[in-house]
Amino acid sequence: MLVRRFVNQKVFLEVLRPASSFNLSCHRKYSVKKTPSAITLMDHLKQRIKATGPITVASYMKEALTNPVWGYYMKTDVFGKEGDFTTSPEISQIFGELIAIWLVLQWSEMNKPTPFQLVELGPGRGTLMSDIVRVFQQFKGNIDDKFSIHFVEVSEKMKQMQRHNLKVSEKKDMIENTNIKVNWHSKIQDVPKGLSLYIAHEFFDALPVHLFQKKEGHWREILVNLSSSQQVLEFVTAPGASPLAMSMNLPEDVDQCEICPEAGVVMACISQNIAEHGGCSLIVDYGVQRSDRFSLRGFKNHELVSDVLEAPGHCDLTTNVDFGFLKQHSHSDVTCHGPVTQKTFLMQMGIRERLQALLRNANERQAQNLLSSYDYLTSNQKMGEKFKVMAVTKHKPKDPLAGFHS
Ligand SMILES: C[S@@+](CC[C@H](N)C(=O)[O-])C[C@H]1O[C@@H](n2cnc3c(N)ncnc32)[C@H](O)[C@@H]1O
Repeated sequence: MLVRRFVNQKVFLEVLRPASSFNLSCHRKYSVKKTPSAITLMDHLKQRIKATGPITVASYMKEALTNPVWGYYMKTDVFGKEGDFTTSPEISQIFGELIAIWLVLQWSEMNKPTPFQLVELGPGRGTLMSDIVRVFQQFKGNIDDKFSIHFVEVSEKMKQMQRHNLKVSEKKDMIENTNIKVNWHSKIQDVPKGLSLYIAHEFFDALPVHLFQKKEGHWREILVNLSSSQQVLEFVTAPGASPLAMSMNLPEDVDQCEICPEAGVVMACISQNIAEHGGCSLIVDYGVQRSDRFSLRGFKNHELVSDVLEAPGHCDLTTNVDFGFLKQHSHSDVTCHGPVTQKTFLMQMGIRERLQALLRNANERQAQNLLSSYDYLTSNQKMGEKFKVMAVTKHKPKDPLAGFHS
């Protein structure tokens, strides 16, 4: 079985070999537009805190990232060299291709059911999905157009970029020259039930977290308040136990932890649909096995910001995903695999072989780009170790899943 899986993987990689139609450049370039606004999110937050008192860090994060007017993700293209951070699909097409192969393998293991839904949470520019669709289309008469796409996306700006990058027609919401329908939903609960393959790449790390600190043996929530000068925002510790601290089973053996209730809700929803209708899920994110310290941080112009409260809506906010928490919230009738490191997953999925194939047709500049993006995705000091990959399947396979061998 293991051998067969490996052979299949090789066969699937072969389908990718003709590299001529692919974009060999790795660091893709996009333009950025900034939108001015008279009242700032900072003004809004100050007014809110004055009116109703300190807010939770989760409320702050939600406002900073997804407030409909000022939220960080709602206004501009934030990715790539000219943005604030870059993500694996934006670094290299190989990343999306290997995820596509993984999805084809899972679909084949399920005996190729059609039609199915391909659901992506937090698709950003739509780069990962466009790489996946391009690979699927090479399996002519097979998986190529037997599915619909469902994006879970909260930002209108991102939706526009996704429509543009995937060439989705305004009239019919179909990808040009295909039968692939694209649907947008602002929350996972709105995605129709049915057999679904889910992908969440750097989605869970953007969901709002609550921060708890142990003080004299008791868990206290960290809140965001106005400073005494009323000029800046600052962290304060709640004087008593918050309802969430009391209702959550917070760990005994650590002094700090972050809890992301929304991540639990999303995981429960995805895994319940997999349990009832079949399918699988692949989750890739900056993460840990268990949250045992604060990891909330901000990025601006590819650098860590010194104070995440300084300029709400103007920098990315992110936290380590607690994969143990995701597992705890998954349905009892599904199997979770991993997490393994991104390096392990990509190596097992054949990143070296794919790199070699692309290098054969690359000029010197392209070869340099390919090698540097390979290093970025896999090296322990860059994305290889810090990013983790977890999968969910309906059935427990007899052999380890592709990408998850120990
Ligand atoms: C860090 S970006 C990742 C983009 C993409 N997956 C990638 O790796 O390039 C986060 C994405 O999730 C979306 N997002 C953030 N919070 C969301 C929420 N609560 N519901 C739906 N989408 C959300 C953002 O608009 C953005 O598209």
